[in-house]
Amino acid sequence: MPEADKEGKNYHLDTPVKSEGFFLKGSNSLDWGMKNRLSHIFNPKTGRTVMLAIDHGYFQGPTTGLERIDVTILPLMSYADTLMLTRGILRTTIPPTYSGGIVIRASGGPSVLKDLSNEQIAVDIEDALRLHVAAMAVQIFIGGAFETQSVHNMTRLVDMGTRYGMPVLAVTAVGKDMARDARYFRLACRISAELGAQYVKTYYIEEGFETVAASCPVPLVMAGGRKIPELDALKMSYNAIQEGAAGVDMGRNIFQSAAPVAMIKAVRGVVHDNLNPKEAYEMFLEIKNREEKNLTKKGAAKKK
Ligand code: R5P
Repeated sequence: MPEADKEGKNYHLDTPVKSEGFFLKGSNSLDWGMKNRLSHIFNPKTGRTVMLAIDHGYFQGPTTGLERIDVTILPLMSYADTLMLTRGILRTTIPPTYSGGIVIRASGGPSVLKDLSNEQIAVDIEDALRLHVAAMAVQIFIGGAFETQSVHNMTRLVDMGTRYGMPVLAVTAVGKDMARDARYFRLACRISAELGAQYVKTYYIEEGFETVAASCPVPLVMAGGRKIPELDALKMSYNAIQEGAAGVDMGRNIFQSAAPVAMIKAVRGVVHDNLNPKEAYEMFLEIKNREEKNLTKKGAAKKK
């Protein structure tokens, strides 16, 4: 039995107990565990996140740049606040010493050969907890053939997540023939938040993105989309952040870049340090050139 200690005397009576709000939009009433998990995704200092999305294989197999995640993605991991991936890649390829947040892909089913909106829940909450993840991501297909089913997947995950303190990220997917405009994204993002998602991922649009962010009562992260030139991807990220996004969830524009490490560092500059696109692009070029010089030096040394 431990020795009894004396009762404390210093109650700091002249220091009021702090009662601070949580740093993320719309998240103040969440439970402690959920807030703690969200703090593994969003940096509490900036309120923003750089999520590296590498989950593309769950519906389209070995995507360009993700053929060997052990070779191409592990060197990028430490620059991301969060990885978004499937449990298969997490268990097989990501070292358990990784200390950033993990957002697990929790819906799936159809491949690129079928109607992608026909998804179901693809991860049990118990497994997500066992994997110690920070959030579960589920795709919703507003206007898609399986709209209700996909929204139901989300609400079921939100119910399970609420029970265990696990946030849900709603990913707004747009059908091939559907208009990608502010009206559509206001609808999809608002439905996600109204039905309980703790944060939402959506695409950037040139006109009206700020109204999408303003009308969504929880944090929004911008999806990267198909590969575009680095400067354009940095401009898009900058605009999204300045117009209300709380970060990016970017895949191909990072891992398909000519210099992925340089690109993720430049994206971090935009997200966390408010670099403008010109400054971020200069940073990208500088790191890329340095990497190339080092490679040339190494090549020359090997030949000797
Ligand atoms: C798509 O459904 C996947 O969830 C990706 O995570 C998402 O599209 C983001 O990756 P990218 O920036 O390559 O579009």
